[in-house]
Amino acid sequence: MTHIFPRVLDRELPEAVAADGAWITTADGHRFLDAAGGAIVVNVGHGERAVIDAMTAQLGRTQYVHGTMFTTAALERFADEMAPMLPLDDARIYPVSGGSEAVETALKLARAFHLARGQQSRFQVIARRSSYHGNTLGALDASGKEPLRKPYTPWLGRFLHAPAAYEYRCENPQHPQACGAWHASELERMIAQAPPNSVAAFIAEPVAGATLGAAVPCDDYWTAVVEVCRRHGVLVIADEVMTGVGRTGAWFAMDHWGVRPDIVTAGKGTTSGYVPFGFAAVSGAVFEAISTTGFVHGFTWSHNGLGAAAAGAVLRVLRERELVARAASLGERLRGELASALADTPIVGDVRGLGLMIGIEFVRDPGTKEPFARADRVAERVATAARDQGLLLYPSTGHVDGRDGDLIMLGPPFVLTDDDAATLVERTVAAVGSVA
Ligand SMILES: Cc1ncc(COP(=O)(O)O)c(C=O)c1O
Repeated sequence: MTHIFPRVLDRELPEAVAADGAWITTADGHRFLDAAGGAIVVNVGHGERAVIDAMTAQLGRTQYVHGTMFTTAALERFADEMAPMLPLDDARIYPVSGGSEAVETALKLARAFHLARGQQSRFQVIARRSSYHGNTLGALDASGKEPLRKPYTPWLGRFLHAPAAYEYRCENPQHPQACGAWHASELERMIAQAPPNSVAAFIAEPVAGATLGAAVPCDDYWTAVVEVCRRHGVLVIADEVMTGVGRTGAWFAMDHWGVRPDIVTAGKGTTSGYVPFGFAAVSGAVFEAISTTGFVHGFTWSHNGLGAAAAGAVLRVLRERELVARAASLGERLRGELASALADTPIVGDVRGLGLMIGIEFVRDPGTKEPFARADRVAERVATAARDQGLLLYPSTGHVDGRDGDLIMLGPPFVLTDDDAATLVERTVAAVGSVA
């Protein structure tokens, strides 16, 4: 009997005792290839000495000092090194403990910006359908993933949701013609339907995460929707909690389209999972406005030196070993190999992604894209088959209509060796094949 309230209630979990590179070892001696980096988190791999040493050194200096009373060298150094990497001009970084906190902070920063400029009317947030921004109530309200929202419906409903940028099942009736323009006009229609000057922010993942399995928008999506936001005084929040810090083969995914948002969130890969950490960052212009009035916000664990030490070390490991370029090239290779090895597997509808963020969508009929019934539990069965052969995948369900829809995501550490990559493809194909 355990006294833990576990994350999963339908099976007993093995005990992890060691981890190295892309592999996790359990107490009973099994080794698992961590093809999803946990939940697309472990960018620099497990057991990275440079990160562990930086954290140990920081703990030898200070352990806890409050963010309203002190700064630390670890925090200042991390922010100095991260700010120029962000797709923001003159970035200011507000460190927090994870992705959901980063999103809550970003939403409040958007509101604070408008208040500071005397625009009390601006409070409305537009997010997207089938998105994921976190499980705290504000972040969950931004999230458009129905199965996650459903139990908490009475607490939600303040935010609006625009169409997802989901090329495989695009809502544009003319798809693939003029998709960027169609998304822009949908967003503009929503802004026009809201009370005048009420929309504060548009929040979206640059590449959709687990809820849509690494769905990459059409090429002109971001420039088109950002242009609408600019014209209507709406701040753009790029939720880079999953995509940030190299995951898509660029430092931040918005770099792929050369678009500069007003606010960026990050989490997961910032510390590669070595310690809970994340941040919301704003452009210098947003910071200047808010600094005239102050920002009513704060967490006990924000501005944490240990997290900053880990995040700073991760940044240097990525840079020194050119791992972001490795994420780009390895991602392209894995996507290509998976797509060709799965081309004749009848349940595979789409293999997609960017960098080392890869999604595989399962369908009953690739011709019509009809999903499997939820009761078939296809994504779960693929993940179980993979686990049985020592491969960890990240399943997701319910994206087609709030109930049906099966995906798995892969997001391995960037330090995956070529041999590991071959094992990943072989075991993924075998797991999918066994369920097919
Ligand atoms: C895009 C995005 N935003 C926010 C979150 C929430 O992050 P966390 O689980 O660290 O609270 C996630 C987590 O998957 C995410 O992918």
